[in-house]
Parts: sequence; structure tokens; C-alpha cells
Amino acid sequence: LELLLPLVALGYLSGTWLGALTVCRLAGLGDPRLAGSGNPGFSNVLRLHGPRLALATLLVDAAKGMPVLGLALLMGLPPWGQGLVGLGVLLGHSYPVWYRFRGGKGVASAFGVMLMLMPGVAMVCGLVWSLLAWWLRTAAIASLASAAMAPLAAIWLAPAYVPVVIGFTLLVLGRHVFNIRRLGRGEEPGL
Ligand code: G3P
Repeated sequence: LELLLPLVALGYLSGTWLGALTVCRLAGLGDPRLAGSGNPGFSNVLRLHGPRLALATLLVDAAKGMPVLGLALLMGLPPWGQGLVGLGVLLGHSYPVWYRFRGGKGVASAFGVMLMLMPGVAMVCGLVWSLLAWWLRTAAIASLASAAMAPLAAIWLAPAYVPVVIGFTLLVLGRHVFNIRRLGRGEEPGL
């Protein structure tokens, strides 16, 4: 358990790798923080550059926490310890030290962490996200609904992780305050 803190720190560091920035830079495109919603995440890359680059962004952000989470599982950390490492990944993504603590909203990162720790819950959330995004063409509604759905899915599919998932949900909801305000004003940009 003395490995917990180093693993959380490693999780945080992995989280600070923002897929959207790497993908846009490699594609020779501009900084996604300066266009669209300004969010360095897959939804904004989808909005700006279409599905291929968005998928690449999703892959990086979902996969970046997996090595350190794999380590946490190998070390036999209990669910709450694994959850803290996952929380580290989300915090790294949303508050990256390299970018003045201004990162993304943690949706793809949380999806990746959950895929590793509780694949069933991740599948349910991924399905809810995809259906709503396709139907309503609004990423934030899909993200808010998936975040709200996650603890319920965990009660059903991964009870030991319920407190962990509630933590993820609160973080993701908190990162969507501006989206919620824009939705209220009817000004949320579509996909
Ligand atoms: O995945 C993040 C999404 O919920 C909101 O992103 O770019 O529409 O603000 P964006």
C-alpha cells in the first residue's frame, strides 16, 4: 500500500497527456483549445476535424491511464486504491500542470479508466453516450447523461466501485458547468 501514492502520482502524470493536442499537432492542425468550444477533448476534435481524428483523440485519452492502472491491479490494490489511481488520471487530464492546470473534461479519460477497472459499466456508459450524441448531436448532454448513469450502472455491475464512480461522476459534472449554462441559454454548440 506504500505504492499507492507513487501510483496516484504516475496516474496524474499519465493523465496530463492531452490526446487532442498531440493528435492535432501530428495532423498539422491548429490548437483545438483555440477553436470550437476550446476544449482539448474528443468532442471538440470531432466538431472541428471529424470522426477519424476524434477517434484517435479518444484512443489516446482512454488508453493513457491503462499502464499505471494495470500496475495498480498487478500490485493488488483494493478497489478504492485503484479508484484513487484512476482519479489521479482524471485530475491530470482536467488539471494538467504543464498547461496552467487547464485541461479537458475527463469524459474519455473516465471511460478508459472504467474500461480497465469495470468494463461492464464502461460499456453501458459508452452506449448511452453514443446513442445520445448521435440522436441529439450534443456532446455535453451525452456526457452529462453518461456521468449520471455511471453510478447506477456500478450499483448493478460493479458494487465495490460505487464510491469510486461517484467521485468520477462529480468530477466530470463539475467540469461541465459552462456547458450546463450554455445548454440553459440554448447556446451549446452541436457536433
Ligand atoms: O466530452 C466533453 C463534452 O462533454 C463537451 O465537450 O467540446 O462540447 O464542450 P465540448
